[in-house]
Amino acid sequence: MEKNNFSLTALGTAFMRGYHARHDHSLIFHDPLAYGLLTEKERFLIANHWIDRLSSVAPEVAASCPDQASCLRQALQRCTGASTVLGRARYAEEALRNGIGLGTRQYVILGAGMDTFAFRCPQALQKVQVFEVDHPATQAFKLRRIAELGWKIPPGLHFVSLDFTESSLEEIEALSPYDPAALTFFSWLGVTYFLPRGAVLDTLAAVARISPAGSGIVFDYLGPDSAGNGKATERLKAIVDSLKALGEPLKTGFDPAALGPDLERAGLRLLEDLAPADIQKRYFEGRTDGYRASEHIHFALAAVM
Ligand SMILES: C[S@@+](CC[C@H](N)C(=O)[O-])C[C@H]1O[C@@H](n2cnc3c(N)ncnc32)[C@H](O)[C@@H]1O
Repeated sequence: MEKNNFSLTALGTAFMRGYHARHDHSLIFHDPLAYGLLTEKERFLIANHWIDRLSSVAPEVAASCPDQASCLRQALQRCTGASTVLGRARYAEEALRNGIGLGTRQYVILGAGMDTFAFRCPQALQKVQVFEVDHPATQAFKLRRIAELGWKIPPGLHFVSLDFTESSLEEIEALSPYDPAALTFFSWLGVTYFLPRGAVLDTLAAVARISPAGSGIVFDYLGPDSAGNGKATERLKAIVDSLKALGEPLKTGFDPAALGPDLERAGLRLLEDLAPADIQKRYFEGRTDGYRASEHIHFALAAVM
């Protein structure tokens, strides 16, 4: 991400959640507020960007679409990570709910982007304090947008502006009412890809240092066969090109076989690593609308040791 620019991918993922809530049946993840965080003009520009991508990636498919709406539907499946965005949000909030049942009192959303949890689930804020941690430029954009919309920031929601490549997540203690003694759940969705490997591992180690044993984290990551070895799927190639053009290139992936030891060195125990086939089975089996697990992306759940 370029230093002074807010994340365009954060707007893109909000679009995917908003589109799904408004246009699809049998919802994987229900975010009825996501579209509201985007202006009509932004939605128009995002939709057109993907329709253009479809025309260059799969011109025959684009030509066979009877109208813009079906072009957009095809583009979302062929040129974006919409399935991953919905699946990982569902996975994270399922794990969060389990955690709340076991006494979790804080929810830290790392690289929150346009996440709407705190506005969508007001009843959860009776039980957990929520902390949105994000790149300063993206967070400033979101706060401006919330103000323009007149959304009221609930008292249990706290914003922490921080660049993972320049500062340690440990600063959350000085920058907010975060309590290092409270059982905490972290989600880190759609972020590890964009950071240098060292920043990912440092942030994971910080999670372990600032929260008690039994605290949890869910994150998604790029697995093997994703770059440079000729095994990437057409969908991933289209996403890689598109992200590069947006100034948010993919930088880091992990070898699932080495993830457990990597996490242990950071003070975390890997509890679950959902491979593409597991994700397909859990969230997409039987769907006929094009949503299906990415062949390259894993969802991981780990606990502080
Ligand atoms: C693809 S968006 C994902 C947003 C949200 N988690 C979601 O799933 O929709 C990537 C997020 O990572 C954040 N991000 C990227 N690089 C970052 C950095 N160096 N420090 C902090 N946040 C960063 C962006 O600001 C953005 O919110």
